[in-house]
Amino acid sequence: MNATMVTDTAKHYPVLLNELISIITPQHGGTFIDCTFGQGGFTEKILSYENTQVIAFDRDLQTKKIADKIFRNYQGRFLFKNKKFSQLNELKIKNEKIKSIIFDLGYSLNQIKDPKKGLSFNSTGELNMQMGLNNFSAKDVINKLDAKELEKIFKFFGDEKEAKKIAIKIIRERKKRKIDTKVLVDIIERTKKKNFKTHSATKVFQALRIFVNKEISELINGLVNATKVLKKDGVLAVITFHSLEDKIVKYFFKSLSENKSVSRYFPKTDQSETLLKLTEKKPIIPSNKELEENLSSRSAKLRYAIKKSDFYNFETDIFEKFEHLIEIENLDQKL
Ligand SMILES: C[S@@+](CC[C@H](N)C(=O)[O-])C[C@H]1O[C@@H](n2cnc3c(N)ncnc32)[C@H](O)[C@@H]1O
Repeated sequence: MNATMVTDTAKHYPVLLNELISIITPQHGGTFIDCTFGQGGFTEKILSYENTQVIAFDRDLQTKKIADKIFRNYQGRFLFKNKKFSQLNELKIKNEKIKSIIFDLGYSLNQIKDPKKGLSFNSTGELNMQMGLNNFSAKDVINKLDAKELEKIFKFFGDEKEAKKIAIKIIRERKKRKIDTKVLVDIIERTKKKNFKTHSATKVFQALRIFVNKEISELINGLVNATKVLKKDGVLAVITFHSLEDKIVKYFFKSLSENKSVSRYFPKTDQSETLLKLTEKKPIIPSNKELEENLSSRSAKLRYAIKKSDFYNFETDIFEKFEHLIEIENLDQKL
């Protein structure tokens, strides 16, 4: 086997790094917001260029340690907030300053490997799946919601064909024994036909992670608030890892780059303007070289848009468009 073909799963690779840098151009300086700091890969790369400043967010409390190290090297140019990116607008950032805002969605290697987080179906122990700053865990979801509610989560967030059967089995099993990660995987494996391409539990685990971390409302609010904060000619760049995320980003960019994006409350003269400009309709995906080095980048998609206008009183129907998904996330009120 060719040595370069072996993926080093213990190493952290920021995905689509070169492609992102060529779009946001930190070489020319400016202030950037990294909404998903993670292990600091993007932030450090941006800070390595002179005259740049980064404001970074991450909801995972563990990331603070990495941020503190970077802070020592780039004092005065780096600000870190242990907050969710949906809270971006609470920072009171002056929007004429922000040159680019980036989102690198999904999970970092540190998080996947952390047994306490229980994000992977290979974990053992209690069900959890919290990224950070959560109000409930996967354990609450599996133990407190009814069969219909669990079915909805598995079906709409995981596209799981056997959602109903799995939900019913969970309800039956939880009366008899405690459901931890291993028991949940066992229930799924006993319900579904074996598929040799992907693990049987992949879809249910994805669905639970999305629900526990309210990823749909986080993403939609994050995109809306980022668009407000960005300056004219600024770039909004998003890397997604699953089709649901990509669908939301694609819709948001498309709808705001067509005429309907401008608020009806603006004078007629502004009506021909659109808020965003798309230069590429298709997403940017990892090169063969990147795939050889880091196989887990294979589902990454990068989309970006440029803000054309200084005003930000735009209208978006994104909340209505994805209302059915937001309603499912709101089932958390029962927990
Ligand atoms: C794929 S990692 C980012 C990796 C980073 N670009 C790097 O190069 O190290 C995604 C990060 O986003 C964070 N995250 C996900 N959703 C978030 C949210 N709603 N608010 C803040 N941080 C979030 C996760 O905790 C995780 O650390």
